[in-house]
Amino acid sequence: MEMESPFKADIVKGKVGLITGGGSGIGFEISTQFGKHGGFVAIMGRRKQVLDAAVSALQSLGIHAVGFEGDVRKQEDAKRVVESTFKHFGRIDVLVNAAAGNFLVSAEDLSPNGFRTVMDIDSVGTFTMCYEALKYLKKGGQGRNNLPGGGSILNISATLHYTAAWYQIHVSAAKAAVDSITRNLALEWGTDYDIRVNGIAPGPIGDTPGMSKLAPEEINSKARDYMPLYKLGEKWDIAMAALYLVSDAGKFVNGTTLVVDGGLWLSRPRH
Ligand code: HXC
Repeated sequence: MEMESPFKADIVKGKVGLITGGGSGIGFEISTQFGKHGGFVAIMGRRKQVLDAAVSALQSLGIHAVGFEGDVRKQEDAKRVVESTFKHFGRIDVLVNAAAGNFLVSAEDLSPNGFRTVMDIDSVGTFTMCYEALKYLKKGGQGRNNLPGGGSILNISATLHYTAAWYQIHVSAAKAAVDSITRNLALEWGTDYDIRVNGIAPGPIGDTPGMSKLAPEEINSKARDYMPLYKLGEKWDIAMAALYLVSDAGKFVNGTTLVVDGGLWLSRPRH
């Protein structure tokens, strides 16, 4: 059973959020919670069936939701989707970059094109979406001192590049770039437009495409022994962190990537 939200039901009331990868996994849970807390939701994804099912599920919760097909690797898709979102809702306040690609492969067996594919989705895709959304985010929220802006961006990252991760060289490189994008845009767009840019680095989260691709049985048995809190996270945990960061609760938080992993990345086997 899903836990009740500790937040008031109107903390993002009237805000419009565009969530890439919003049709499944962590992106879908963020979309759901954003909608349940008063936001309007646009989700972007490549697969029409997944998008349609997600939009129906959101609507059945009474959420005003719309889906737009698109691939974050294509600049024309990014441009079209942000334009469509703006046309539909009349504003964009929040962009969540949750679209990502992943597979396990040793560096020796990874083709440069495989490496590039994940960089293209996670890093270049994130930048492209930010780039195309900027003019709307500037207009979206109410800026301080009559500056335009006041919108915010949230980039879904990871912790695996803090150290090194087996068979994840492409994802590690891509998420390191995402964290840099978060910091640099926080600096430039925070200063110029009052747009906050933050990230979340989830640990292993149950019931996600990432977990089913990344050796869940290993995490469920061995690794669990040295996981602080001894359990997987839930998509809900990430969505609550997202609400904090994109709502006014996080109004002075800019350029940070919040680790939501129960402390796992710090851990070592007990000896
Ligand atoms: C080795 C692989 C591979 C695999 C693809 N490639 N899968 N190499 N092992 N399992 C290589 C291909 O050989 C090809 O290179 C290149 O990558 C592009 O492959 P395509 O199949 O043409 O790519 P595409 O159809 O665009 O699909 C992208 C994808 C796919 C990333 C490969 O898995 C995808 O669409 N994923 C989206 C959903 C997803 O992965 N979600 C999980 C996110 S979890 P060559 O040289 O042969 O041309 C996540 C968590 C991260 O991000 C943090 C974890 C802690």
